Amino acid sequence: MAAVFRSSANLVATLSLLGLAGLLICLIGWWWFSPSTDYARHVDWIVGQPVPFSHQHHVAGLGIDCRFCHTAVEVSSNAGMPPTYTCMTCHSQIWTNARLLAPLRHSLVDDKPIVWNRINDLPDYVYFNHGIHIAKGVGCSSCHGEVDRMPLSYKARSLTMQFCLDCHRNPAPNLRPKDQIYNTEWRRAADTASPENLMAEYHVGGRDLTDCSICHR
Ligand code: HEC
Ligand code: HEC
Ligand code: HEC
Ligand code: HEC
Ligand code: HEC
Repeated sequence: MAAVFRSSANLVATLSLLGLAGLLICLIGWWWFSPSTDYARHVDWIVGQPVPFSHQHHVAGLGIDCRFCHTAVEVSSNAGMPPTYTCMTCHSQIWTNARLLAPLRHSLVDDKPIVWNRINDLPDYVYFNHGIHIAKGVGCSSCHGEVDRMPLSYKARSLTMQFCLDCHRNPAPNLRPKDQIYNTEWRRAADTASPENLMAEYHVGGRDLTDCSICHR
């Protein structure tokens, strides 16, 4: 009787099985790793806003301090977003008829705040506090990058748990002198106070900052 399968069929069957196994491994790998990639975490994605506000223009160009708009950042868990009248201190006089600024004018007339779309947003089960980081010498750019170089805002760091822990395990090299908190280009230089001195000055290191209850309360 003639063979139903030619002998090459064995090879084909083996290769298909191997291929299937390979595909399965790739899928599992993708499922495991993809949520933590920068792409999945929307790092570097520009988020559309009702008004195309430029930090580059207002901060680097005009020299406005972060705290002029994010007034609560030193004292509160939330940095706070500028209300319309903060923009209007200037834009009631400059660029008063610009189409780009129409949402600002409507917001003022209708007495409705502008709803800015969130860029950095932690899940609700994570506790975060700006005030304590600023008080302990951690600068804005450690977590937000060079905001004053952004014509449109985007998320510069992943803000994953790993990201937080990387610093919490060893904060010393990330601490800076208080007058450099808002300087997004700050780098540790030879004449910067040593990490050990800053740790002592700010009283950092008394607690285990990797303890789950620090961020999950
Ligand atoms: C003139 C006002 C103004 C100044 C000054 C300013 N910002 Fe902003 N900031 C805004 C506005 C408006 C938004 C919302 C629109 C946007 O995302 O660009 C924003 C958004 C942000 C966001 C993203 C918020 C989110 O949803 O996660 C960060 C981070 C931020 N600013 C940091 C800074 C830092 C750091 C500085 C100083 C270097 C600064 N800002 C100075 C007005 C300002
Ligand atoms: C300290 C004054 C000042 C404040 C406060 C201010 N702006 Fe401006 N803004 C300016 C100036 C100056 C220009 C440039 C006008 C020009 O190019 O002729 C400008 C330009 C703009 C533009 C045009 C695009 C660009 O960046 O060139 C937008 C949009 C804008 N501002 C939005 C805002 C919003 C939203 C706020 C509040 C969060 C705000 N501004 C607060 C001074 C200010
Ligand atoms: C240790 C990291 C870290 C530092 C330092 C930091 N931020 Fe943030 N920032 C975050 C995180 C995380 C969020 C998102 C918070 C959330 O979702 O509850 C955020 C959110 C924001 C927002 C959106 C509004 C809000 O409060 O949720 C603004 C504006 C902002 N940061 C500005 C600043 C400025 C200005 C500085 C410097 C003075 C700064 N941040 C320093 C981590 C940081
Ligand atoms: C660049 C360094 C750095 C990064 C990044 C960082 N932290 Fe911190 N964090 C610190 C320092 C320094 C302290 C103060 C430690 C102390 O007081 O001993 C602190 C303290 C805290 C505290 C304690 C507040 C309190 O009640 O005392 C919380 C909560 C916290 N961080 C959450 C976070 C979260 C969530 C993230 C990630 C989104 C994060 N941190 C990222 C440096 C950092
Ligand atoms: C410095 C702050 C910090 C500390 C300490 C911390 N976490 Fe988290 N954790 C986070 C942040 C931020 C997220 C959210 C990440 C995201 O957006 O996906 C998170 C998310 C999680 C999640 C959700 C799943 C995941 O992996 O995203 C679990 C579970 C978790 N943490 C458990 C723990 C346990 C257990 C500990 C103690 C060993 C711990 N965490 C300590 C900041 C922290």
